[in-house]
Amino acid sequence: MGNDLQSRRAVIAGVGASGLALAVTACGGGTDTAQDAGTTAESSAPESSAPQADGALAKTADVPVGGGTILADQKIVITQPTEGDFKAFSALCTHKGCPVDSVEGGSIVCPCHGSKFAIADGAVTDGPADKPLAAQAIKVDGDQITLA
Ligand code: FES
Repeated sequence: MGNDLQSRRAVIAGVGASGLALAVTACGGGTDTAQDAGTTAESSAPESSAPQADGALAKTADVPVGGGTILADQKIVITQPTEGDFKAFSALCTHKGCPVDSVEGGSIVCPCHGSKFAIADGAVTDGPADKPLAAQAIKVDGDQITLA
């Protein structure tokens, strides 16, 4: 019996990368205890579909080839200049710090004064910005893109 409980907890802990772990913690353990008491460790295996891995920013399928996607919350732009080649940059314009808001025609575009940056390397392709977008290190693991 003890073993069953332990293995269930291990699975729960394993699945709960960051979000789930927080949610479980936030319940103060009450929910966990109630489940253990009410379900007698039988046919209650949790689903094995893991949530996005800890720190995952996006999936590769979310980033169009020759374009990019803007993660407003993380203030990061992820681009895919050529198939399978992913880059990431700060989404804050180097002119006055506005968040860029679109990726069009191979450029990352700032809405404030119209600066454009190349999706391949963040270089300025149209001013008034005069510095490239700061590169962000990422890694691609399967279809998950995470911060490196
Ligand atoms: Fe981006 Fe001015 S803040 S162009």
